[in-house]
Amino acid sequence: MNQQAPEGGTIIDGKAFAADLRATVTRQVARLKQEHGITPGLAVVLVGEHPASQVYVRNKNKQTIEAGMNSFEHRPEDSISEAELVALVEELNQDPKVNGILVQLPLPSQVSSHAVIASIDPAKDVDGFHTTNAGLLAVGGAGLVPCTPLGCMMLIKSVLGDDLSGQRALVLGRSNIVGKPMAHLLLAESCTVTIAHSRTRDLPQECRRADILVAAVGRPQMVKGDWVKPGATVIDVGINRIESDEGKTRLVGDVDFEAVRAVAGAITPVPGGVGPMTIACLLLNTLTAACRQHGVPVPEPDG
Ligand code: GUN
Repeated sequence: MNQQAPEGGTIIDGKAFAADLRATVTRQVARLKQEHGITPGLAVVLVGEHPASQVYVRNKNKQTIEAGMNSFEHRPEDSISEAELVALVEELNQDPKVNGILVQLPLPSQVSSHAVIASIDPAKDVDGFHTTNAGLLAVGGAGLVPCTPLGCMMLIKSVLGDDLSGQRALVLGRSNIVGKPMAHLLLAESCTVTIAHSRTRDLPQECRRADILVAAVGRPQMVKGDWVKPGATVIDVGINRIESDEGKTRLVGDVDFEAVRAVAGAITPVPGGVGPMTIACLLLNTLTAACRQHGVPVPEPDG
């Protein structure tokens, strides 16, 4: 499904991979309904009117329904208190029709995202942000894995195959949502993992050692062509809007795409790389959560 670029590395088609994954999840949801009478349900909580979040949430709802799952949307006002939001999450924790809960971030300043995430039942935490799931990932247990790193790992394996042992991996960025869980996933695959960040010394040199480079810093086009080892697999998690010609804007990643593509073995584009994988993995996590809650075997990835 990946495309060989006319010159330089393969362009990893995240959009096509995500469509395939959604089709697999859709089939598995249909089978779960038929064989066990279970319809997985995902509750999404969007506080206020954050414009980018509204777009994400609309897409999440649409794709949840297209996969045959129930979608429950909650839209409390921007002025909601932390206690009220925690009370809403606790209601969803108790609701048997809800198998997955996602509280869209960022939250307004009067609400601690840490407190809200802590109130989500870890079994329903399809974002994988709860400390129980973060801890399970760190010790190699069967929790729920954050969607973006999970999607990145699938794209890496689509290029390099399932055996990543001994590969030198560098994760640029140390967020709880992407950088840290990504590093744990790579470590679990027996990669030699470096986490680099804004204080890392000799960053270009660190990057050049990596066979697998995952960029998740939120800095437009930061990773340059001469930062990348020839033949490396480059995964770009960044989504940055920059000014382009004639007062227009365009989306770019954390990687200088054209320059890096010339050197890399494979690279994800922005848009159409990692982005579509995040929602596809959210649907997969919701299916996994529903199966576990009902004591039904979780389907095999290609089943
Ligand atoms: N805001 C931006 N990305 C995400 C995500 O993956 N999950 C949640 N909950 N909020 C987000």
